Amino acid sequence: MELYANDTKTHDESRQGEAFASIGPIKHFDKFFYVESYGCAMNFADSEVVASILENNGYGSTRNAELADLILVNTCSVREKAEQTVRKRLTEFRKLKTIKPGLLVGILGCMAERLKSQLLDEEKLVDIVVGPDAYRTLPDLILEAGTGQKAVNVILSRDETYGDIAPVRLDSNGISGFVSIMRGCNNMCSFCVVPFTRGRERSRDAFSIVAECRDLFERGYKEITLLGQNVDSYYWNNPETNASVTFAQLLESVAQINPSLRVRFSTSHPKDITDEVLFTMAKFPNICKYIHLPVQSGSTRMLQLMNRTYTREWYLAKVARIKEIMPEASISSDIIAGFCTETEEDHQDTISIMKEANYDYSYMYFYSERPGTLAAKRYEDDIPEKVKKRRLQEIVDVQWVLSNESNKRDVGKSFEVLIEGNSKKSEQEWMGRNTQNKVIVFPKADHGFKKGDYVHVLVTDFTKGTLLGKAIK
Ligand code: SAM
Ligand code: SF4
Ligand code: F3S
Repeated sequence: MELYANDTKTHDESRQGEAFASIGPIKHFDKFFYVESYGCAMNFADSEVVASILENNGYGSTRNAELADLILVNTCSVREKAEQTVRKRLTEFRKLKTIKPGLLVGILGCMAERLKSQLLDEEKLVDIVVGPDAYRTLPDLILEAGTGQKAVNVILSRDETYGDIAPVRLDSNGISGFVSIMRGCNNMCSFCVVPFTRGRERSRDAFSIVAECRDLFERGYKEITLLGQNVDSYYWNNPETNASVTFAQLLESVAQINPSLRVRFSTSHPKDITDEVLFTMAKFPNICKYIHLPVQSGSTRMLQLMNRTYTREWYLAKVARIKEIMPEASISSDIIAGFCTETEEDHQDTISIMKEANYDYSYMYFYSERPGTLAAKRYEDDIPEKVKKRRLQEIVDVQWVLSNESNKRDVGKSFEVLIEGNSKKSEQEWMGRNTQNKVIVFPKADHGFKKGDYVHVLVTDFTKGTLLGKAIK
């Protein structure tokens, strides 16, 4: 069976349901797995850990579900809609089982953790259920499921980081790689299911992180994104020397691998990002000048109910500090419309904080109550869906204007762009990003550039979400 390479897309929650295949030396396998991933970048990175575990146990990856002996769906629970999409997919895969006896279907990730054996016992949608900290047991669970037994492991761990597992890069463009530096989350944002599905926060061995990044660089990768739900609280204690490593120190170590390796990270919690991190970013040209700093709401009253532990003023002071240390930095945000008890005035506070922070980009959602969260226990989900959606639309409209203005300011400037591949629309154009994480498309002309090259591009125009330009020789 053939193994495929694939194009990488941005890792965010809008990425849904892509099949992967590994790049690397062609190995021969008797059995094949197909994995589809939903949710955040960490889930996509986890699928690469799972691929590694499976390859070591005789399973190759395929992009064709119909050819697979094992279908895995790595799932997200962050909003109800994410779960509905997965249920639909699982129903489709169950139909495949009727024409392919022996086919096993497994659910991984946050929905597996949240629903435990419900999808196996009550709904009979899957054969295997594995939570985010139990992937090492997947080969045993496959054997159990193969003999018709219940195969469930949703035990959360206090120390599992999969630090010793070399992920099999799936769906990679060979230029941008994602490296998990920690797991879990200790922040109890009241709306959020993640602490319940991912467990306690733990940081991965700094040496294994730097080794993985160096290995990617040696294999031709030019950009690393360090991943965690709250990267700024990364803190690793070396058990042998008792020396500790902070996020700023880790960032510096990764940046020092090579000046031509770009370093990015996601996500920063506003309460935890320190001056030390900002000065480290400013010091190294290869650490990208882009911070994803989710605000969630512009109303201090809402922020309190959300348990975000900062006020509107505190957040804005953090934004001002970032701009003071790195005037060229771009900032993006996550925003939730229609959280419990939100008034029109609270909503206007969100609109005004977006303008004050002047976000280059935002990921915007309406509130979706998640069972078991603090908000579900404490507050009524009392904003009608119609109002939530109207407020969300107003937020989207404001962000559109801000992004447009931000792009307009870039016209006439030149940026160093890392070429990631062909543009979506044409093989005659390259697509890449600048340090601020903005996508720039420019004609290939006959410059002889290739994927992975750094090119200076003069911005001449823009469309919605994309800068257009031409390479400067
Ligand atoms: N750890 C990151 C942080 O603290 O900002 C974010 C992680 S969360 C997986 C991604 C985003 O989903 C959040 O920033 C929030 O805006 C959104 N989100 C989380 N729970 C939500 C809910 N119940 N309803 C709507 N959006 C939600
Ligand atoms: Fe969820 Fe808050 Fe943790 Fe982010 S920091 S994952 S929003 S609990
Ligand atoms: Fe979703 Fe779990 Fe990530 S709930 S956003 S896949 S940590």
